[in-house]
Amino acid sequence: MTSTPFWKRTWFKITLLVAAVLGTAGGYIAWDRGFRVHPQPDWVTATPEMRFKYGSIGAEHDAGIPYWIFYVMPRMFPEKLPGPGGYASMGIPWEAGQELPVGFTKKTIGFPRVATNCAVCHTASYRTNADATPNLIVAAPGHTTNVEAYFRFLVDCAKDPRFNADNLMSEINLVTKLDFIDRLLYRFFVIPITKQRLVEREKQFAWIYRKDFADWGRGRDDAMNLTKYFLIQQFMDDSLGPTDMPSIWNLQKYKWDKGMRLNYAGDSHDAYSVITDSALGVLGAPPADKQNFLGHVAWLHEYLTKLAPPKYPFPVDQSRAAAGKAVFDASCAGCHASARTGTVVPVAEVGTDRSRIDTWTGKSAGAANKAVKDMGIERKGLVEADPTGYIAAFLDGIWLKAPYLHNGSVPSLRDMLEPAAKRPREFYRGYDVYDPTNAGFISQGPKAERAGTKYEVERKGNGNQGHEFGVALPQQDKDALIEYLKTL
Ligand code: HEC
Ligand code: HEC
Repeated sequence: MTSTPFWKRTWFKITLLVAAVLGTAGGYIAWDRGFRVHPQPDWVTATPEMRFKYGSIGAEHDAGIPYWIFYVMPRMFPEKLPGPGGYASMGIPWEAGQELPVGFTKKTIGFPRVATNCAVCHTASYRTNADATPNLIVAAPGHTTNVEAYFRFLVDCAKDPRFNADNLMSEINLVTKLDFIDRLLYRFFVIPITKQRLVEREKQFAWIYRKDFADWGRGRDDAMNLTKYFLIQQFMDDSLGPTDMPSIWNLQKYKWDKGMRLNYAGDSHDAYSVITDSALGVLGAPPADKQNFLGHVAWLHEYLTKLAPPKYPFPVDQSRAAAGKAVFDASCAGCHASARTGTVVPVAEVGTDRSRIDTWTGKSAGAANKAVKDMGIERKGLVEADPTGYIAAFLDGIWLKAPYLHNGSVPSLRDMLEPAAKRPREFYRGYDVYDPTNAGFISQGPKAERAGTKYEVERKGNGNQGHEFGVALPQQDKDALIEYLKTL
C-alpha cells in the first residue's frame, strides 16, 4: 500500500487554502467594486421633490452609464451633441450646485453609475423673462428636453472607434485619479461592456435615425413606438407618433371606473399601470430587485396622485377671467369639465393628427401586458383594443402645458383659438421664456430659434389641424377665455 508522503499532503492543503483565500478575496473585491449596492446619499430623499428629481428608481443596473464615462463623453465627442455646452445643449434643466442635470441619478453599484428617472421628461423649466432665473416645476412637461438627441448621443459615441479603453482612460485620468482596481475594472470590463451594451441598442433605435422622419425635437418622444421596439421587441413599421411630454401631477383626477383612461389615446387603464410601465421603460430591463422597484413605483404613485398643479405666476384679471368662465362653460366644458373629460373622443370628432393613434394596436397592448406579467408584476395594464381617438384633456395647470395638442403642434392658447389655417406652420419648441399675452412659450424670434428646435407642421405626425373649437368666438370672448384658462 502506498501512501502520499506527509509533506506532499500538507503542500496540497496549503495550496488549496491559499487558492481559496485568494479566490475569496478576488470574489470579494469583484463583488465590492463591481456589484455592491450602496444607498444614495440622504440629501437625495430629503424632500419628495428632490427624490423625484434625483432619486434612483433602479435603472442603474441595466441602463446605467459608468459615471466617469458619462463625465468625459461630452468632452470627447462634442460634435455628436446638438450644440455647444455639453449635456445642457440637450435642453435638460440643470440646477445650480448640482453635479448632474435634473432627472439624472447617481448610484454606486460597485462603481458610481448614472441613469435617469421620470424627471428627465416630466420636469419643466420656465422663466418669467429672459433675465430671470429658471423656475423648475416637477411633474410638469419637460418641454425643453431633447431626449432623442440624448438617445442618439449615447449610441453614436459608443459606435465611434475613438470610444475605446485607451482614449477613455486618458480622458478620465485628466479629471480624476482612479485607484489600481478601478483602473483595471474600467479598462478591461466597464468600458468594453458599456460600449457593447450601447451599440446593441442601435438596432432597436433604428427608427430615430430614419431620414424620412422629422426629429421629435425638444419636449417630445415617440412613447408607444419606444414600448413596441424595446419592451415587446416588435418589428419596425412605418409609424411615427411623437407626443408632448404630459404633466403628471394630480393623477387622482383619473377615475378608471368612470371609463377614464391615461395616455393621449387612452392606451392605459390607470395611473398605477402607466407609472409601472414608464418605470420599466426607464429601466430597459426586468427589475434586478423587484421589491425595491415596486417600492419606487408605489412612492411615485402616492406622490403624483395628490401633487397639485402649479399656479399661474403672472397677474390674472379676475373679472375678465370670470367672463371667460361663462364662455368656457358654453363652448368647452362639454368635453373639458364633464363626464367626457378623461375619456376618448373619436378622432373624426376632434379632427387632430391621427399618426399617434396608428403607432399602437390592441395586439401590441396584449403583448406588452404579457411581458409585464411574465416579470411577475401585477397591474390593470394597457387597453387591449386599437386606439380610436384622443382623450379630452384635463386642463389643470394648462398654462404650463404649451405647446398644445397631443403632438405639441400649436404653440399657445391663443393659437388654439384660431382656425388651423391661421395657426403657425413653423415655430421653435423648447425655449423657456413664458409669454403671458398668448399663454405659451415664446416660439418665434432669434432667442427661440437659438434655444429651440424647429417644428414644421407638414411633417409626418406634426399636423396642427382639428380641434377648431371656439375659433369663431368674438375676440373679446377669446381674450376672456384665455384669462380663465390661466386660472385652472
Ligand atoms: C423619455 C421621456 C419619459 C420618461 C423618462 C417618462 N415619461 Fe411619462 N410620458 C412621456 C410621454 C411622451 C408621455 C405621453 C405618451 C403618449 O400618450 O403618447 C408620458 C405619459 C405619462 C403618463 C400619462 C399622463 C396622462 O395624463 O395621461 C404618466 C402618468 C407618466 N408618463 C408617468 C411617468 C413616470 C412616473 C415616469 C418615471 C417612472 C415616466 N413617466 C417617465 C415621457 C416620459
Ligand atoms: C368635442 C370635445 C371638445 C370640445 C368641445 C373642446 N375640446 Fe379641447 N380637447 C378635446 C380633445 C379630444 C383634446 C385632445 C386632442 C389632441 O390632443 O389631439 C383637446 C385638447 C385641448 C387642449 C390641449 C391640451 C394639451 O394638454 O395640450 C386645450 C388647451 C383645449 N382642448 C382647450 C379647449 C377649449 C378652450 C375649448 C373650448 C373653446 C375646447 N377645448 C373644446 C376635446 C374638446
